[in-house]
Amino acid sequence: MQLKNIQKLELPPTADMHVHLRQDGMMKLVTPTLSSGGVDTAFVMPNLVPPITTVERVVEYQSQLQALAPNVKFLMSLFLHPSVTPEVIAQAAAAGVAGVKMYPQGATTNSDNGVANLEAFYDTFAAMEKHNIVLNLHGEVLEALAPPGVTLEEAFLPTLKQLHERFPKLRIVLEHCTTAAAVEAVRACGPTVGATITAHHLYLTSHDACCNPFAFCKPIPKNPTDRDALIKAVVSGESKFFFGSDSAPHPLQSKTSAEQGKAPAGVFTQPYVTQLVLLALEEGIERGVIAETDVTQEKLEGFLSKFGRRFYGLPETSESKIVLERKGEKVSASVKTEDGSIEVGNSRADDVVFSLRWEAV
Ligand code: DOR
Ligand code: ZN
Repeated sequence: MQLKNIQKLELPPTADMHVHLRQDGMMKLVTPTLSSGGVDTAFVMPNLVPPITTVERVVEYQSQLQALAPNVKFLMSLFLHPSVTPEVIAQAAAAGVAGVKMYPQGATTNSDNGVANLEAFYDTFAAMEKHNIVLNLHGEVLEALAPPGVTLEEAFLPTLKQLHERFPKLRIVLEHCTTAAAVEAVRACGPTVGATITAHHLYLTSHDACCNPFAFCKPIPKNPTDRDALIKAVVSGESKFFFGSDSAPHPLQSKTSAEQGKAPAGVFTQPYVTQLVLLALEEGIERGVIAETDVTQEKLEGFLSKFGRRFYGLPETSESKIVLERKGEKVSASVKTEDGSIEVGNSRADDVVFSLRWEAV
């Protein structure tokens, strides 16, 4: 496939295995944008205010999302917290909850109630292993705990290995991996361990994240070599690596009014997620990181759609498809509510992307 010269692509709907859809007005604004980005299956993060720690609340949240996007399959998660006991895990499994997300305390948006000591949760992990609930890791250590010169993600990787060794049947996802070292660490684990890769970490580096609030997120994008290792993992055809956008909307105001380096962490990609992955791959080809021949129909389908579904035990076929065509469409500046009270800036505003539409198979 010569991506650059391809005018029209047909793909199965994208499975986005890491999304932030928020609550209230923001939820109403961003949830419908899943379909413009080609997504029919979404794994939803629980870092709301307050975080989602009960089965009752997660079920309620799921029905709110379902009402806003009836054609999307929502995979739900709980926020790892002392109140998420082995009994709660059993209830969660019965309610069809797919995962439990671990946030290190204070590492990112709405994570003040996160985890300080993972060992305190070993009974919960054992229950998750038994009930086949996935452990989703925000794989970073706190700044104070990383040795000088070692990224927060790299400093976390030994913990990933230990958890996998202790709970070999527990399915674990290293979320939004950002370093070449993380890709290797995930490869070195058995088949129960996978990783999501975002769209934005395929095109941002620390250089962008330092100074542009719309490129600032956690984990911080790393250096060009890391970005390129992620691009290579995307086209490796290895089913351990699948798409999870970590699209994280914040009010435009909070991004533009923040002092340098103080903007809330999160890059909003949802309305164009599939298109942005394709754009990043094209740029990877242009830079010579990957070859034209590395991007095949099969690899795109695997990374964007099939591998994530496979990891979560979902069917890999669908009744609809997405059709992507080059029509000169540009990423819009933002999405906003009709009354303009909530507005979120899009990543890569003004860049030319494929136009996307849905068709029945
Ligand atoms: O950049 C990020 N934003 N990283 C996260 O881990 C959380 C997310 C958010 O919720 O805003
Ligand atoms: Zn996230």
